[in-house]
Amino acid sequence: LFARPFVFIKGCVRIADLPPADRMEIAFAGRSNVGKSSLINALTGTTGLARTSNTPGRTQELNIFESQSDALRIVDMPGYGYARAPEDKVKQWTRLIHQYLTGRPNLRRVYVLIDGRHGPNANDATVMNELDKAAVSYQIVVTKADKPNKSELEAALAKTRAAVAKRPAAHPEIILTSSEEKVGLEQLRAEIRQLMEH
Ligand code: GTP
Ligand code: MG
Repeated sequence: LFARPFVFIKGCVRIADLPPADRMEIAFAGRSNVGKSSLINALTGTTGLARTSNTPGRTQELNIFESQSDALRIVDMPGYGYARAPEDKVKQWTRLIHQYLTGRPNLRRVYVLIDGRHGPNANDATVMNELDKAAVSYQIVVTKADKPNKSELEAALAKTRAAVAKRPAAHPEIILTSSEEKVGLEQLRAEIRQLMEH
């Protein structure tokens, strides 16, 4: 599945722009700058596929990528909770994210990314609430594991586990990743392969 490169299909600013719901989709969601686009590049092994930046608010559309060998689509999402962008933009992204996450029939799983330095915040909780309410399958991915020191990472992980334990439904195990140091990628790939088989 990940042996061949992924290709960029299009960027969508509204739900109506999405391609037909004709194949399995997985989406990467999380606050601005958490490392969504970087993880997609690392996971697919396609450098520069998704655009990344030091500045939060880089990804502003639902960016669609497809495998050239299999019927898998990956969706890179704008970050949520980014307060420094113009208010109407933030509103537009929030609405788009909400509509996509709760209304896409072929969305097989959402990866909710949590920063390994900080753990979850209120916006993450809101998104988990929405996904739980809509009964959409999701898994927590802790990112940037190379950045914090050991005790900071442990603290962020403990907070993340506690937040997930509070959820009404059971969720798959938390995955620890670093796009920079290629940690957790093989585990993530294996799980995505499994999703494609079921
Ligand atoms: P938005 O599109 O703005 O919502 O951000 P994003 O979640 O797509 O984050 P992006 O992938 O653009 O990464 C943000 C910054 O974090 C970039 O400067 C990346 O180089 C850096 N980054 C991402 N993943 C890692 C990681 O695993 N380790 C380290 N050290 N830095 C990372
Ligand atoms: Mg991005």
